[in-house]
Formats: sequence, C-alpha cells, structure tokens
Amino acid sequence: MGELAPDNWHLVAGGWWPTASPTALSLTSGPLYTQDSMIDSALIPPGLEAEALGALASAADEAAIEAWRVQWLGRQDGRLTALLRSVKEQPVESRAAFGAAANELKRKLESALADRNEAIRKEALRELSTSAALDVTLPGRPQAIGRLHPVTQTMRDIVKAFEEMGFRVAEGPEVEWDRYNFDAARIPEDHPARDMWDTIWVNTLIDGKRSMLLRTHTTPNQIRVMERTPEPPIRVIVPGKCYRQEATDATHEWMLTQIEALAVGEGVRMSDLKGVLYGMARKLFGNDRKIIFHHSYFPFVEPGVEMAMDCFICRGSGSDCRTCHGTGWIEILGAGMVHPEIIDKAGYDSSKHTGFALGIGVERVALLRWGIEDIRHFYQNDLRFLAQF
Ligand code: PHE
Repeated sequence: MGELAPDNWHLVAGGWWPTASPTALSLTSGPLYTQDSMIDSALIPPGLEAEALGALASAADEAAIEAWRVQWLGRQDGRLTALLRSVKEQPVESRAAFGAAANELKRKLESALADRNEAIRKEALRELSTSAALDVTLPGRPQAIGRLHPVTQTMRDIVKAFEEMGFRVAEGPEVEWDRYNFDAARIPEDHPARDMWDTIWVNTLIDGKRSMLLRTHTTPNQIRVMERTPEPPIRVIVPGKCYRQEATDATHEWMLTQIEALAVGEGVRMSDLKGVLYGMARKLFGNDRKIIFHHSYFPFVEPGVEMAMDCFICRGSGSDCRTCHGTGWIEILGAGMVHPEIIDKAGYDSSKHTGFALGIGVERVALLRWGIEDIRHFYQNDLRFLAQF
C-alpha cells in the first residue's frame, strides 16, 4: 500500500479507514480480515468457507437456500454460530483474533446468502417474463388522482356564498310529480308557460295519465319546502339536476344543474333579492363584472326578472357572437317575488308574508367563470377538457 493517505484517513493493518469511524477505530486493536486471504486458517478450520459457499451455490431454490441458512447461520445450531460461540473457549492470546476471523467469515456467508437470494429472485422474474405474456419489469401504472368536476366546484362555491348569507341547503327529487313541477307553480295543464320547458316524461300512467317527469327546474322545491315549514321565516337553497328536451347549443344542454333559493318572511322585498344577487355575484366574480336585470315572466313570481352578466367572449360587442347570441349578455338566473297565491296556498298570509325566489343555472355560471365557449363540453367526459379545472 504505497498510496498517499487521504486526509482524515489512516493506515491500519493493511487498509485505509476513516479515523472518524468508531468501527474502524475498534478494529485497530486486532488484525483485520477484510480479504479472503486474511482469514487466518490457523484459527478457522481450513475448507470451512469453501464448503459453505459450495453448498450455497448448489442450493437451487428458496427452500434449499433457507435450509442452508439454518444449517450455517441458524441461531440455534448453525455451524458458524457454534464457531462464534466457541470464542470463549479459545486461549486468551488468540481469542480476539479468532473472534475477528469467525466474524469475518460470518459476514462473508451473510453477504453470499444475500447475493444468492437476489440471483434466485432475478432468475424467477426472468422465467416469469418468458413463460407468461407479461413484462414484470415494466414500472406500474400511476394511479390517476381525480378532482371535482367544474360544475361541482361552481355549485359548491355558490352554495357557500348563500350559506354565508344565512341560507340552509335542502334537496328534492329529480323524478317529480307534475303537480309540483307545474300546477303548484301556477303552470296549469293548458297554460302556454308549459311550452317553456319541453318536458321529459316518465311513461308510467297513473289514473290513465302521465304524471311523473324529470323535473324541468328546481322550483317545485319552493312548494315542497313551504309545505314542510309551518311558519316562516324561510331561507333555503335547493341545488340539483334538471332535465329538458332541448335543442342543444353553446349555452343549452338537456341536463342542467340549478340552485333554487327561497326566502319568505315578514317584509321581504325586491331590494333584498337584489342585495342577495349582488352579494353572490361579487363573491363569485369579483367586482369588475357587469350585471343586468331584465323584466321577465315566470308564472310563479310577480314581478319576475332575469339576471345576466356581460358576455366574456365578445365583451358585449359582437353581433355574431355564438355564446351570447349577439346580445352581449349571458343570462344566468331567473328570479322574482314569490307569487302571493303561492304564499297563501302554503297556508301563510300573503298580506303579512312576502318572499323572493331565484333559480341559478350553474353551468352558465361555470361558463362565465372560466370563459368556456360551449356548455356541451361539461358532459362529454373528455379528460383533456375536465383536467383543466
Ligand atoms: N325555474 C325558473 C327556470 O328554470 C327559474 C326561476 C326560479 C325563476 C325562481 C324565478 C324564480 O327557468
């Protein structure tokens, strides 16, 4: 060993050891056995190592290897364990050297065992990859982690905005009676307002007549909630899916999500409705979006309004804008003061109790929020689209 010692290393018994290593320091007290040739054959029976390694090499499977391990390194009766145990019977002068030599042999056998195990494992994999039609060395497929659908995200944000204003959440059925969807909302059978929603009916006849449908709006829940509430005040929102037989386009889908809101109490006024709507819009869109109210007709409110926001595609300018149909505005909800007849039918007194109601199109809000140009993207389940939110 003629090399120059690197810093912090010093030469002990024929090898370089870092001075900082406690193992190395303790080893300086006796001879070191770091190479085959250094196992002192005067202390350890000659041929023992060769015998052990030979037996290991011919152990052909896991069971044979395990048997070998027990035979040589087993804690109870392993041959090497016995050798190590015999250290204390050695004469004092050679005891340390014997111990070191036996330990060194033990390390060698353990490392040979690990190598043999690894070789057998690789061999088994190699065999499997040729006998079975699969490549077991390929890395596994990463598990895709999902996320909330943009409509769900938007719905949750709207719900949160309303909850912060004191509204509670209720739910109603998607398959609805026509008397809730239409009649109770002041849309009688031959009323032209039924034309506003091309209805998807359930084919079952009850008393000779179709009376169940996929709800066309969440408005029937106004009636359902009032029926369950003996006395106002009411502050409730009802989110859910609705279905219409639509000729679909960039802003119309046959399935849509609505959130109905209903507030009934003494002295509830149109200005309260506007305040709530501004609050919600500010929360969702910040301060720099424009909002407009138009008068509108819904049989269950009087007066009725529609709320629209400035079109994010043409910013209100394009006459051929296909998103806002050239109007510059995108309608996101209908609203109004609950019709007094409905208040009275619920068993309240419309001279005392008034209310407002609104129904938000959640997909429309999501369109505006992210500048999505076509509502039909939402339910085509194209991951290239959905993974962007
Ligand atoms: N139900 C109406 C629709 O689906 C929206 C609406 C709800 C209007 C509540 C007024 C009050 O278009």
